[in-house]
Amino acid sequence: MRTTVGIIGAGPAGLLLARLLHDAGIDSVVLESRDRAYVEQRQRAGILEQGTVDVLRAAGAGERMDREGLPHDGIELRFAGRRHRVDFPALTGGRSVTVYAQTEVCKDLIALQLRDGGPLLFEAEALAVEDTDSPRVRFRHEGAEGVLECDYVVGCDGFWGVARKAIPAELTQVFERTYPFGWLGILADVAPSHDELVYARHDRGFALLSMRSPSVSRLYLQVPAGTEAEEWGDEEIWDELERRFETADGWRLERGPITQKSVTPMRSYVHEPMRHGRLFLAGDAAHIVPPTGAKGLNLAVGDVVTFARALVHREETGSAELLDAYSATCLRRVWQAERFSYDMTTMLHRVPGATPFEDRLQLARLERIAGSRAAETDLAEGYTGFPFG
Ligand code: APR
Ligand code: PHB
Repeated sequence: MRTTVGIIGAGPAGLLLARLLHDAGIDSVVLESRDRAYVEQRQRAGILEQGTVDVLRAAGAGERMDREGLPHDGIELRFAGRRHRVDFPALTGGRSVTVYAQTEVCKDLIALQLRDGGPLLFEAEALAVEDTDSPRVRFRHEGAEGVLECDYVVGCDGFWGVARKAIPAELTQVFERTYPFGWLGILADVAPSHDELVYARHDRGFALLSMRSPSVSRLYLQVPAGTEAEEWGDEEIWDELERRFETADGWRLERGPITQKSVTPMRSYVHEPMRHGRLFLAGDAAHIVPPTGAKGLNLAVGDVVTFARALVHREETGSAELLDAYSATCLRRVWQAERFSYDMTTMLHRVPGATPFEDRLQLARLERIAGSRAAETDLAEGYTGFPFG
């Protein structure tokens, strides 16, 4: 097989890149190791920045998002029994976010790709990227090995993918931090108990109330690293969530049948550079943020928009300047999101064994946001998104 751009991975990054290239008249082939059902049901992110919404609309993937997505103008912070709402448009000159699950983004992009895009091969596992100057992707599909020859290859294969390994270790710098906790996430058939997301800092640990629709809630509970979802019974989860969302005004958390339960580990990770020869990395293949800041999918979108723009520029002008600047351009935005996600995570999660001094510091950071427009604006700007490169 031969194509202009070989794309490894059909998550949000790989699927959106295929669409952007198609719209620019550039052919690509997407190799995805799992089957379509897996990709379309894998519960992960749920918040789209305005920039992401705009890109999806321009790519023709906005029709259902505009119909079913939930525009949100703020979030609520909870701490020490208090409630503080952060008003995004008032603090950012009109920006907001949209609640629309990445499972739905992937379904919409897969439908477009199958309708009029290039080859999207499911259950096609990339085994290795060879010769990054004249890239070849060795892959296994339907029991046979194949080779995809391409002018460029973009690793959109997530944290556990293979593309990153093709960059020589001696040219690589990895920055990472793991956390002693993760998130136990549930989907529940019950109307969300609040009309916006609620981020709660509690002495027992962090909790987050989010949603998927007016009748489906998505909630998360900080748990120790290594926790298995099966360790928690349904009523135990609701009891703990209730404790952590408690407020002085007696706000109530509505319960309902839990339909899905899973644990997400917590990690900060950046792989530099994000390009080697004609191999480019995008999305979780290059960087991971703790989900507290809801940046993961939005960073992936920024990366592939940057790559597509750079390749179109190369095709139109012959200049590789934007391709040469790809890594630096993406990393400027990645590091801002890493900083924001780290700040949100360390402010809201109670580390086991935290000292009374550290507890007070967390409350002081939250008090600062509740009492300072400047501090509140920093959170609102980070949450609604940093400009694309
Ligand atoms: N060959 C082919 N496909 C692979 C391989 C491989 N060797 N390894 C991994 N994949 C596929 C995975 O099955 C997955 O579908 O690559 C895809 C990577 O998708 P994501 O992990 O979702 O990564 P990305 O597209 O960068 O999305 C980033 O979106 O899902 C949200 O918040 C989440 O931060 C994440 C963000
Ligand atoms: C989600 O709805 O899954 C979600 C929302 C906000 C976050 C993380 C996850 O910070």
